[in-house]
Amino acid sequence: MKKGTISNQIRQKESLNLSVDAQMERIAHAPFGEKTKRWAKRWIQHESGGGVGMGLFTIAPVIESARGSYLYDADGKEYLDFLSGFSVSALGNNNQEINRILKKQMDTLTHYFDLPHIERVKLAEKLCKLSGIRGKTKVMFGVTGSDAIELAIRAARYHTGNPYILTAYGDYHGVTYGTMGLTSKGNMQPYFYPIRPNTDVGYFPCPHPYRKPGEPFPGFDMNSLRLFEQMLDGKETPFTDGVYGVNNVAAILVEPFQSSAGYYVPFREYLKDLRRIADKFGMLLIVDEIQTGLGRSGKLWAFEHSEIEPDMICTSKALGGGLPLSAVIGRAEILEDWGPAAYVSTQAGNALACAVGNYILEVVSSESFLQKVNERGCHIVQGLKDLKKAHKIIGYIDNTGIYTGIELVKDRKTKEPASDAAAFVRDKCVQEGLLFEKGGYYHNRLQLIPPLNIEVKDLDRALGIFDRVFGGAEKKFGIG
Ligand SMILES: Cc1ncc(COP(=O)(O)O)c(C=O)c1O
Repeated sequence: MKKGTISNQIRQKESLNLSVDAQMERIAHAPFGEKTKRWAKRWIQHESGGGVGMGLFTIAPVIESARGSYLYDADGKEYLDFLSGFSVSALGNNNQEINRILKKQMDTLTHYFDLPHIERVKLAEKLCKLSGIRGKTKVMFGVTGSDAIELAIRAARYHTGNPYILTAYGDYHGVTYGTMGLTSKGNMQPYFYPIRPNTDVGYFPCPHPYRKPGEPFPGFDMNSLRLFEQMLDGKETPFTDGVYGVNNVAAILVEPFQSSAGYYVPFREYLKDLRRIADKFGMLLIVDEIQTGLGRSGKLWAFEHSEIEPDMICTSKALGGGLPLSAVIGRAEILEDWGPAAYVSTQAGNALACAVGNYILEVVSSESFLQKVNERGCHIVQGLKDLKKAHKIIGYIDNTGIYTGIELVKDRKTKEPASDAAAFVRDKCVQEGLLFEKGGYYHNRLQLIPPLNIEVKDLDRALGIFDRVFGGAEKKFGIG
């Protein structure tokens, strides 16, 4: 094909590809010891180039062991863990109580297909009791977060008889075949082309207090959501029949806070408005609490901050404490609609994972535990506010409970995103022994996901590293 005629998608594909040579080059220059580099090379030689590791990090350290809030690479280098296996190790790595429960459960029952066992029954009861949904609820189990999302949207479509799902721009709900159409996080789109199976999906904006419509680097406010509602009212959408109005939407599926997009905390009214819109047009409301739930926001579920009741809740990640487990909790009338064997997964509701899940739920639903999460959240946000006084690179801090995102900008007035500086900060922090991930619509946000039970001295240690690294970034990129 001649250069001038090459399609954007093919260019995108070429720009995303990272050759094995280029990956080896990155490893050669990585700030790791020799053993870690050797393991990294073996990793690159044997895993598909489409794995997430080289996408999230310039080069991810190869971890050998972990304890509490710390990870150790193959050379024994220590990393303060502000990733928690992406929100999974909420009670810290290698948690001794979880290990004790696992060892006991291993000697009792490891796995029993997708069939009932004691720990599974107990977990279903607990999830129903703690759902925050009034009336009778039921549970469906899966293995991964994407499983839970697929189950929830299938149930919503089955129950309502409608095909469409509405979700927010920027939301992340998984990248399996059934979920990738629901993940509209902008920088994921190139990876989906030309594979995009779930097309019965519509999108609405997620309003956030920092960036407003009309600014040079715009965002959405609450009015943006009302415009969406007006479009539904005015019948100018694919979800509408000229006579009957909105008639083909099964559910609104939404993250209470946008996690993989960059740890954005939207307005409290956001979920309230979505609940109202769902009721007005006869849609179900499904909240994806896979990352926000189980205590991270300082409440058991993040939707509680908006004082609403969803129709279904998807949960995973922290629920298994490091073992793969997910669940959907939903109103009984929805989950009792289908007959036996409507869904099945060989590994769903694994006995080891359910035993851990019972312990995790007990811990993270306790008031005293949640109070401590909030105290730790206050501590980190106060530390970040102090850093904001000293570092002009910090444009905005999102925080609820210990759920924290930091937006980096070149200029506080124009809010010009500091995307290169964010990559520099992430890489420098890895070098200094602090591991976290960055995200953001403009690739300029730091997502802080420490274990919920992290010690205050470790929060202070992270703040000290940020102080040094922000200073270095400001100097390098001429900010402030
Ligand atoms: C909010 C949210 N939903 C769904 C998923 C998909 O979960 P999984 O990767 O376990 O399939 C994720 C994963 O990051 C997530 O953060």
